[in-house]
Amino acid sequence: MPKQIFNTIQDEIQALKRERNAVILAHNYQIGDIQDIADFTGDSLRLSQMAAKTTAEVIVFCGVHFMAETASILSPEKTVLIPDINAGCSLSGMVTPEQVRAWKKEHPNGVVVTYVNTSAAVKAESDYCCTSSNAVKVVEHIPADKDILFVPDFYLGNYVKQRTGRDNITIWKGYCHVHMMISPGKIDQLREDHPQAEFLMHPECSCMTKYMDQADQVLSTEEMVRYSKESNREEFVVATETGILHKMRKENPDKQFIPAAENAICGYMKMNTLEKIVLALEKMQYEVKVPQAIAEKALIPIQRMLDISYQTQLIS
Ligand code: 13P
Ligand code: SF4
Repeated sequence: MPKQIFNTIQDEIQALKRERNAVILAHNYQIGDIQDIADFTGDSLRLSQMAAKTTAEVIVFCGVHFMAETASILSPEKTVLIPDINAGCSLSGMVTPEQVRAWKKEHPNGVVVTYVNTSAAVKAESDYCCTSSNAVKVVEHIPADKDILFVPDFYLGNYVKQRTGRDNITIWKGYCHVHMMISPGKIDQLREDHPQAEFLMHPECSCMTKYMDQADQVLSTEEMVRYSKESNREEFVVATETGILHKMRKENPDKQFIPAAENAICGYMKMNTLEKIVLALEKMQYEVKVPQAIAEKALIPIQRMLDISYQTQLIS
């Protein structure tokens, strides 16, 4: 059969999506064109909830590998595709399952809380998973006398430690190379240049150690999007990966959004393109499937996190 001709690549993707009974999930750091054709955009938590809920048979996960793994763990019966198999995450590579096992051996009654930016194999060794939007809630849920290991992000761990007031948390020394670009020096300068702006910071930022008390808001990516819509302020400094500015500007054309660092760009997230989404749907590539034994173990901390988040949503 001759290949159908489409006016735009967006039309082609829509047709392939219908043919495959697929849904496109896109993280807030994806390029604008991908966010615009996605069925859902959001932070790690919202996307994992969407992955669990969708009735589609195929999920095209426009994000990074650990996110697609989480979707596959939550929906083992669905086919999860990532447009570029090399879309990894520098942070998730900073802790191994062996290192977590070694800590647990030394702390047999300890509790391991793992940021979602980790491999499925690390999650499988953990007691609780968390994202940037629920890390404090998850830790508050754990009895105060339990020693906690928080992996792998140092800055998020430090923020959680401060917010919960717990001193029995061992924090891993991992970091995201993108959020390291947002230095305290840059924030100082922006404060001077934009005295009216509200400062929205992602807890992975390295400047968090200095500004924890001074940040106007410490938020996950989706919380930043929601907050900037609801706030009466007209100017915002946004301390996270710059892809998020697309959604903020689109939803608030009259407000000003200033990136805390123009070069805070995640090369892994940007590996996904519209052309690769077409190939993903045509060739059903690249499937992300977690081995069953690991998936079953990793589901436990992920499900605990989702249950805590759900309870929190009901209360708040
Ligand atoms: P969010 O869960 O806030 O979207 O963060 C994910 C991430 O990778 C941040 O770098
Ligand atoms: Fe990982 Fe950092 Fe990219 Fe987020 S921004 S996916 S933490 S490398």
